[in-house]
Amino acid sequence: MEYKHTPVMLKEVIEYLRPRTGQFFIDCTLGGAGYTIEIAKRVGETGRVLAIDLDEMAIANARHLISRLKLTNIILANENFKNLSKIIKTYFKEENQKDWFSGIVFDLGLSSAQLEDRSRGFSFQLAAPLDMAFGPLTRRRTEEIINNWPEADLEKIIREYGEERFAKNIARAIGERRKKTKIETTDELAEIIEAAVPKKYLNGKIHPATRTFQALRIATNDELNSLREALPAAVNLLASKGRLAIVSFHSLEDRIVKNFFKEEARDCLCPPSFPICQCGHKASLKIITKKVVRPGEEEIKNNPRSRSAKLRVTEKL
Ligand SMILES: C[S@@+](CC[C@H](N)C(=O)[O-])C[C@H]1O[C@@H](n2cnc3c(N)ncnc32)[C@H](O)[C@@H]1O
Repeated sequence: MEYKHTPVMLKEVIEYLRPRTGQFFIDCTLGGAGYTIEIAKRVGETGRVLAIDLDEMAIANARHLISRLKLTNIILANENFKNLSKIIKTYFKEENQKDWFSGIVFDLGLSSAQLEDRSRGFSFQLAAPLDMAFGPLTRRRTEEIINNWPEADLEKIIREYGEERFAKNIARAIGERRKKTKIETTDELAEIIEAAVPKKYLNGKIHPATRTFQALRIATNDELNSLREALPAAVNLLASKGRLAIVSFHSLEDRIVKNFFKEEARDCLCPPSFPICQCGHKASLKIITKKVVRPGEEEIKNNPRSRSAKLRVTEKL
């Protein structure tokens, strides 16, 4: 299958990361290899880009692109970025493992190719088994969540990860249906959601299943925890003045990134009531993007998927 994905804020990401000849970079979310290839061209033969993705389809597509472009400086890793420290130990010699990378980038969520891949079950518009795993290493499947999780937990993830105001109605409807029969496909689930929400919601700007499907994808892939685990490991791997750039598409992800950057840019994390510092925390980062960076109007027009993207960049002290 052709791998379709338009990289979001590519120009901005490259400008902030400033890749130069001989430098080492990590792209934690290879996807359609948009960022990886641009960085690889700039770091040249003496530089390296380690490109990670859970999805074998992304890895296979990149392998093909790399050979077509005759690039020799990209290392592909079919792994979960939450294991970043372990991945580095596997792919780099010991002396190159710490404080070595000039830049690390994350472009979170899923690619257009994954969304449009009928077999994966990411889209409520394409009838498919409820899977939504980014790759075979993802242990969970959406079908297990839908059929086995307590109704209260379903409601919680639909509300929190989907920011869905009819989470209770939807969770209850799923609970009722699965008492009678197992819910196995995306179209069955979309139909349950449509029937569970008020009629006027059906005429809204987005399909009533959009938010629930997003929530289920995040839960299936444990996306927020993977990000939380990867951030400190990424900072640890950066050289002084090395940059970490993160593109997110969801307010919860952006909050995790923003708070992490803020904490790591401060010397002491003790409550303000403490007269002297007891935590001994030392700042390791400087925030480069004081305000979050958003795609321009032109990009949003050409690639509507970019409209919710937020870019934050930080630099290792
Ligand atoms: C938005 S796409 C990246 C697009 C890429 N920047 C480009 O220019 O084409 C996100 C990719 O991250 C991958 N991904 C998401 N979570 C991951 C994780 N925890 N570990 C590894 N890859 C992950 C997805 O499989 C998907 O291919």
